[in-house]
Amino acid sequence: MPTRVVDGSRQEDEQLLELSIRPESFAAFVGQEKIKKRLLMSVEAARMRDEALDHVLLAGPPGLGKTTLAHILAKEMGVSVITTTGPALERSGDIASILTNLAEKDILFIDEIHRLNRVVEEFFYPALEDFHLDIIIGQGPSARTIRLDLPKFTLVGATTRSGLISAALRDRFGIRERLDFYGEAELLSIVRRSASILGVKVDDEGAAEIAKRCRGTPRVANRLLKRVRDFAQVNKAETVTRSVACEALHLLEVDEMGLDKMDRSFMRTIIEKFGGGPVGVETLAASLSEERDTIEDVYEPFLMQIGFLKRTPRGRMATKLAFDYFHVDKAVPPAKPGQKFLF
Ligand SMILES: Nc1ncnc2c1ncn2[C@@H]1O[C@H](COP(=O)(O)OP(=O)(O)O)[C@@H](O)[C@H]1O
Ligand SMILES: [Mg+2]
Repeated sequence: MPTRVVDGSRQEDEQLLELSIRPESFAAFVGQEKIKKRLLMSVEAARMRDEALDHVLLAGPPGLGKTTLAHILAKEMGVSVITTTGPALERSGDIASILTNLAEKDILFIDEIHRLNRVVEEFFYPALEDFHLDIIIGQGPSARTIRLDLPKFTLVGATTRSGLISAALRDRFGIRERLDFYGEAELLSIVRRSASILGVKVDDEGAAEIAKRCRGTPRVANRLLKRVRDFAQVNKAETVTRSVACEALHLLEVDEMGLDKMDRSFMRTIIEKFGGGPVGVETLAASLSEERDTIEDVYEPFLMQIGFLKRTPRGRMATKLAFDYFHVDKAVPPAKPGQKFLF
């Protein structure tokens, strides 16, 4: 059907754009200076010794550049990268077939590595440590183990939840890095860089507005930039100025702090329904009809980072800062002395 074709090509366009703004070298990768320096050093040393890079674990919230870094590592090492995800590796055989097809020094990138199942994970250990697999052939008394040698490869694991990785697996990564949210100056260069690749004219203030409201996350910065570009185009604005950016972001329901609708309803639920907390994450998930994982991976890290949310042993709590912010937002008259704070 013709509509299908149009849809398909549109999606392809979007994916191509995504690929074109993804940095391909450490030099183009903005920020995370210390991490870059350490990774670059390890790459250089491995290259000098003509060895595979040590296994690398990259942790941090979504959209901060883990996948990008895995590809950059492969490029800088001059090797191929084979990509898969933790949940896709259901059986030991899945991983065996990938590993036996790798070339020396190749990078195996496993996204969401915290979702690797235990059996596969344990089967994987000897491959990580000594580059071999123990494969059991046959069943019952006639079963025997054969040892399969593997090329010396590099595992790059990415996770949004390093806390869920077993200590045994974590210990097998020689290089472990945690990516943090980006600062405004870094985000500003990311917005400028993406704008120039996409051919979007954006002035300093327009770019700053997007950088300020992207939840400290390059992926969000790029997404907002594309939507602001749409807005500018439809409204025949040649340049994205602050007012163009503000209007577009208003339409997208992204507020001055960069909180989106979901962030706000998350905070409001804690404040309004649960009196500021503490409230358990399961209760919040049910109340918001949202997956617990999404709440923990996507929403909470940023809300904690900006000091709106606290995790306590008894549950999640809204901070005073959050109360103040939402108070102002709703323009509720100040509570009378003794009156319970409700809005
Ligand atoms: N440091 C960076 N500099 C420039 N762009 C970045 C940076 N980090 C991420 N990006 C952009 O954000 C997008 C999301 O990054 P990605 O590596 O997919 O994040 P993750 O794997 O951590 O979820 C990438 O496509 C890339 O365009
Ligand atoms: Mg990724």
